[in-house]
Amino acid sequence: METLRWAEQAPGIWKATIGTPEGLDPLSLLGIPPRRQALEAMGAAPFPLDQATIAAEVNPRRTVICLPLTPDEHIYGLGLQFMRLNHRGRTRYLRVNSDPRQDTGETHAPVPFYLSSDGYGVLVNTARIVTIYCGSTLRRQDPVEIKDRNTDPNWQATPRSELVEIVVPAAGAEVYVLAGPTLLDVVRRYNLLCGGGALPPRWGLGFWHRVPLPFTDEEAIQEAREFRQRGFPCDVIGLEPGWHSHSYPSTYEWSPERFPKPAEFVERMAQDGFRINLWEHAWVHPSARIYPRLEPFSGSHTVWGGLAPDYTLEEAQAVLKEQHDADHLSIGVSGYKLDECDGSELTGASWMFPAHATFPSGHDGEQLRQVYGLLLQKMTTDMFRRRNRRTYGLVRATTTGASSFPSVLYSDLYDHRQFVRALCNASFSGLLWTPEIRGARSAEEWVRRMQAVCFSPLAMLNAWSDRTKPWSYPEVEHIIKKYLQLRMRLMPYFYSAFARYHHDGTPPFRAMALEIAKHPTPAGLESLDADDQYMAGDSLLVAPLFAEELMREVFLPAGIWYDFETGERFEGDRKVRVSPGLDRIPVFARDGAIIPMMPPLDHAPQPGEQVPLEVRYYGTAPGQFRLYDDDGETYAYERGDYRWWTLEARVGADGQPQVAVTRPEEGWASSYADIRWRFMTTG
Ligand code: GAL
Repeated sequence: METLRWAEQAPGIWKATIGTPEGLDPLSLLGIPPRRQALEAMGAAPFPLDQATIAAEVNPRRTVICLPLTPDEHIYGLGLQFMRLNHRGRTRYLRVNSDPRQDTGETHAPVPFYLSSDGYGVLVNTARIVTIYCGSTLRRQDPVEIKDRNTDPNWQATPRSELVEIVVPAAGAEVYVLAGPTLLDVVRRYNLLCGGGALPPRWGLGFWHRVPLPFTDEEAIQEAREFRQRGFPCDVIGLEPGWHSHSYPSTYEWSPERFPKPAEFVERMAQDGFRINLWEHAWVHPSARIYPRLEPFSGSHTVWGGLAPDYTLEEAQAVLKEQHDADHLSIGVSGYKLDECDGSELTGASWMFPAHATFPSGHDGEQLRQVYGLLLQKMTTDMFRRRNRRTYGLVRATTTGASSFPSVLYSDLYDHRQFVRALCNASFSGLLWTPEIRGARSAEEWVRRMQAVCFSPLAMLNAWSDRTKPWSYPEVEHIIKKYLQLRMRLMPYFYSAFARYHHDGTPPFRAMALEIAKHPTPAGLESLDADDQYMAGDSLLVAPLFAEELMREVFLPAGIWYDFETGERFEGDRKVRVSPGLDRIPVFARDGAIIPMMPPLDHAPQPGEQVPLEVRYYGTAPGQFRLYDDDGETYAYERGDYRWWTLEARVGADGQPQVAVTRPEEGWASSYADIRWRFMTTG
């Protein structure tokens, strides 16, 4: 084993190269530079580990990297994990897989990046399947207390190990170490290294509805109209495989029977304020016009009879981009759902090209499977960027480096607790996740799922198979409407949270560990691994209830908290019990919270449209909110065309609230008109 030579890449980020890394790795595929200025602004930090304790060895078949652990260290991250938050003591096999039903580490979006509760992170930049032993191995020289299984009740199957071993099946790899000091700082550095977080268009933060698979244009229009007639906000209608002339695999061409006039269809939807999102997967149907052009650039194996193009090649990318631009973007399509780029072996079905598949670039099936989703994200984002239009969509698989791509992960798994846990976990690895809703066994479950999805990166009903609609359970229709409207009302708040994601790397929705570890207290440390509650933006804490649960405990970090709806006061640094009834999801605002809200419009405001704001203020602590403003749809913000408003509130010596608003300069086309303050707990 040899120690490594670390070179500082940016303040608080170091890289070491071991052996000869392969020519395919996620960070170089991105083609997106780190956000240097924001990293500089975070300031320098010392190397967070003792360099002498990090060692590696390499042979032609594998690279092994060893790092130390302290006795009480927790290990977070590793991508979109459904089964646990803290991976200490576990072996994680980080393969892309669409059926992560077991606690092995396999998932739609594995990321070989772990964060330690001691305040640092370790990232391996490779397209290979990485295995990380998070304190689950012992070397011969490591001290071990051997217990007698026959007599000792404390015998344990998992050893106590103070060692991380990372194994890359290749003759080299790049490793990064990221400094804190806090866990949130580590995440921010990671996101900024990957180009900063995604900034969706405003409409992306409205409500999404995916219509059933075989729908025609008229059926989709009728379903969309019903949203307007019933007063349920909705911004995006998603079309499922039925819009293709053939699927599976995909042709990417409109079905002449179901969508005979696609341009007219998209235009009619736009007139009613709906964007169109198209389902597709990567496997190309033999009848597709682009099939012959993609054939020379495709792999040795097909998937469901479709070509698997080698999108590491510019030539293959160009074919797909050109066709998508001509047939979809040019008529106003707003984005894609990039499905089934993960593959499965675990359930009844086995589908995906094998690891030994060969591709014209020289890369193999193992590598391509690990990065396929990332490549699709990159291509689609580039296509929209070329037209100076932001997109927001979905992707079912990705890996390292995805922070800046405006696509949200989803899954066919449907366990609600796992879905909320995934929301927490996604925040450690630069991923966005939707706990999408499809169906429910009861009206109660319907409400509980809908409430949680409205506090997530993408609020979506995916009715592709269940044929549900938000009003499918008439007895709770009023509650569902309230939450879809609340989602809409919170758009200025969430949009500002995403702007921070882009500008300083702070994830808009995040695990409690990222909040608690900033100012740890003994009670906080006990709740560090909380996986059923999370922060939405800086000021709101969301604690979903699950079906058949009438009451739950919520950990509130130190300070005073207020019920978001009623203003009821709670002391923090402890667990509180809440039983809010079916019509409410527990949401708490921290002392001093300022929450800008807009009217519950049918759909997001258009560029240039002004909306009035209701700004809520909670508690008595001085509060400040930075409200982000730009045109909401283009990339003009990258050239500096954005402004931050400042909203401030405090309670004066006389007990009365005092407020101040700093607006953009005269002449700036602002998105917000008059501001009305609402004091939730005073005045
Ligand atoms: C699944 C996907 C579903 C739906 C379906 C259509 O793979 O997860 O959301 O799109 O395909 O066939």
